[in-house]
Amino acid sequence: MNLTLPEPSREMSARSEQLQQIIVDEIHSSGGWIPFDHYMERVLYTPGLGYYSTLSGLGAEGDFITAPEISPLFSRVVARQIMPLLAPLERPIVMELGAGSGVMAAELLLELERCQQLPEGYWILELSGGLRARQQQTLEERIPHLLERVRWLEHLPDSPFQGVVVANEVVDAIPVERFIVRQGRTLPLGVSTNPDGALTWSESHEDAPSLVPEDIETTGLAEGYCSEWRPAATSWIAALSDCLARGALLLVDYGYARSEYYRPERQQGTLSCFYRHHRHEDPLILPGLQDITAHVDFTALAEAADAVGLGVAGYTSQAYFLLAGGLTELAEAEGGDELSHRIETSRAIQQLTMPAQMGEVVKVMALTRDVALPETFTLHDQRHML
Ligand SMILES: C[S@@+](CC[C@H](N)C(=O)[O-])C[C@H]1O[C@@H](n2cnc3c(N)ncnc32)[C@H](O)[C@@H]1O
Repeated sequence: MNLTLPEPSREMSARSEQLQQIIVDEIHSSGGWIPFDHYMERVLYTPGLGYYSTLSGLGAEGDFITAPEISPLFSRVVARQIMPLLAPLERPIVMELGAGSGVMAAELLLELERCQQLPEGYWILELSGGLRARQQQTLEERIPHLLERVRWLEHLPDSPFQGVVVANEVVDAIPVERFIVRQGRTLPLGVSTNPDGALTWSESHEDAPSLVPEDIETTGLAEGYCSEWRPAATSWIAALSDCLARGALLLVDYGYARSEYYRPERQQGTLSCFYRHHRHEDPLILPGLQDITAHVDFTALAEAADAVGLGVAGYTSQAYFLLAGGLTELAEAEGGDELSHRIETSRAIQQLTMPAQMGEVVKVMALTRDVALPETFTLHDQRHML
């Protein structure tokens, strides 16, 4: 692959080399090979060196842009959609996972305040120290009067609460395993080093029947077909279920139902890397300096939810979720005579809802316990796809 990417600073290169050395040492001490999910865990989350543990900026100043950064309307619709879920709960909590710059927390709380439905508390579980500081700053500036409701958690709560858990583009940051199809067999694709010490893809020669979900027809997939799956998501859903006494999980992410995910023509899977707004497909370069994501198999999330007694109550595209939830009505009510503001809003709406942009490929899934989803969510239900 011929990539032209911006040069990292000397300080960043040194940090990346330090992380690469740790990974190379681990490869050597593991017999020359590590699974890809282990590599992804290291490059994204190694304390002090991994991408997310050192990240402090998102949006224009970062490597990628997410829906809450595109427009406050996104978070306002999320607030409208979760209001009916919060209403019947006792002392409801909103818990946000991976809160980015904190902009979604601010907008969500402001909208809930406008509608007189503030939750008892707003909890944020953030793995990145840099982002946590950034979130604190955003909330101090934007909603000082609501700050007392906000709490940062070190880990998931020990005792179950009633509330709604929101996670935008979090599941796609959970490490994935990779596999490659060889003569009808599914072999794990991991990372090793080549003779000059550089990181390289490497196939394990041992079959790993438990590697991929059982119902993927690997025999029908072409020789060399390569993709990924995310075993860690199953225990993640189970852990979230354990702390939810009553309420819902709202998961928003790039992804597909399984049949669409493992389509024969998607020969290289969905792994993507983002470095200063350049998208490419080589996760083995710039360790710790670039984001790595893979789309979400929503069928796997539904199976994980089912196994722990959460209801798979809704699944739809981001476009339907936002439009049925009142996106255009909120934009119109917002008014604003300035032409530049109107153009900016219209561009944001397009980016969030157009099928060729985020509208179709980003999905929203609601997993519930003893609460009913509002009609605005189920209007364009696509659970039959799962
Ligand atoms: C792509 S960013 C999305 C940030 C934000 N939600 C947004 O939409 O702008 C992914 C976030 O997920 C967080 N994350 C990844 N795994 C997580 C986990 N298991 N629990 C909580 N946060 C997690 C990362 O630290 C990061 O903040």
